[in-house]
Amino acid sequence: MKILGIESSCDETAAAVVEDGVRLLSNVINSQIDIHAVYGGVIPEVAARSHIEVILPVIDEALERANCTWDDIDAIGVTYAPGLVGSLLIGSLAARTIAFLRQKPLYAVHHVEGHVYANFLTQLGNGTSLPQSVPKLEPKFPLLALIVSGGHSQLALFQGHGDYRLLGQTQDDAVGEAFDKVAKMIGLPYPGGPSIAKAAEGGDPRAYQFPIAKVAGEYDFSFSGLKTAVLRTVQRETGVDHTFPSHELPGRVSQASNRNLQADIAASFQYIAIKTLVQRTIKAYHEHSPASVVIAGGVAANTELRAQLSQALPIDIEYAPISLCTDNAAMIASLTYYMSQSVKPSDPLSLDILPSISMSKTAWATDSLSV
Ligand code: KG4
Ligand code: ZN
Repeated sequence: MKILGIESSCDETAAAVVEDGVRLLSNVINSQIDIHAVYGGVIPEVAARSHIEVILPVIDEALERANCTWDDIDAIGVTYAPGLVGSLLIGSLAARTIAFLRQKPLYAVHHVEGHVYANFLTQLGNGTSLPQSVPKLEPKFPLLALIVSGGHSQLALFQGHGDYRLLGQTQDDAVGEAFDKVAKMIGLPYPGGPSIAKAAEGGDPRAYQFPIAKVAGEYDFSFSGLKTAVLRTVQRETGVDHTFPSHELPGRVSQASNRNLQADIAASFQYIAIKTLVQRTIKAYHEHSPASVVIAGGVAANTELRAQLSQALPIDIEYAPISLCTDNAAMIASLTYYMSQSVKPSDPLSLDILPSISMSKTAWATDSLSV
């Protein structure tokens, strides 16, 4: 069964074709990073406009690279939640229109659930621009998933497809958001995650001791205190007081007498942010004894996370390629396949977007009624 996935929830316009949930035939991603980097973050109106311009060519390219015509496509899956309103609208309207005109079943996919399914892509077709390698084995249930992106930080336990519950989540900022904000504070370019990771290579992770926040729920996270601790340290190290505005700090950091300040802050912040994620994941692993552990979302691209987790877990873990950790439509197409085995398609004439619905409250999640 060949599924066309469409993703446009934030600043990537993406389309992909996946066969039987596991075989990646094409994966086209048009990133807007260069457009938004000028502003240091995503501007929603600009993102929506860019999606409009490229969505149809991106879909055409995904079909072409997969060597498919519309006749080969059995169903369409599109991200309908959560995300930026204007961005979600473009992808969902494109998918609805195509599903209606081409008479294809249409599935509404939750973006954050979708991230987990990047780990189910274990086979590669012959298309161009596919990742060089993918995990060899499909994850097994029960499956523990650490989902860490720009908008979400969650631990979820899956007993089967669509059958999961959230063990914990962030009480304030998502970890990716903390990477982005700290990067901005010390003058590193957007997006902050990869910039911090790169700068950290030249820094000392023990130069500054940042705290791991204590939270009530044993699997919950909190990153806003860490962000403030970094801010106070950067202010102190650059000789200004706590009233000094954070947006003027990059200038101070670049003039600091400690030439390694930026790299040391990046390394110390990254070390503790990742340690927080790993601690909770390992605790959940020992409590629930899952058969597999996966990481998902943009922050799953982080090599420090991969290294710390591999070291701490008593089982082997395979990681999805970086290009499938950050936003893409292949993960949406994979999840669509599993949804299509048990969920009815949506009506293309009435499918609505839900910009802020959280994971586990979707029609697909079995505990949706109990939350
Ligand atoms: O999943 P994603 O592409 O978009 C959302 O759904 O939010 O995640 C984007 C987030 C950003 O906060 C970005 O800074 C972070 O993932 N990120 C990273 C890395 N690559 C992307 N964070 C840490 N290390 C990385 N290598
Ligand atoms: Zn995402």
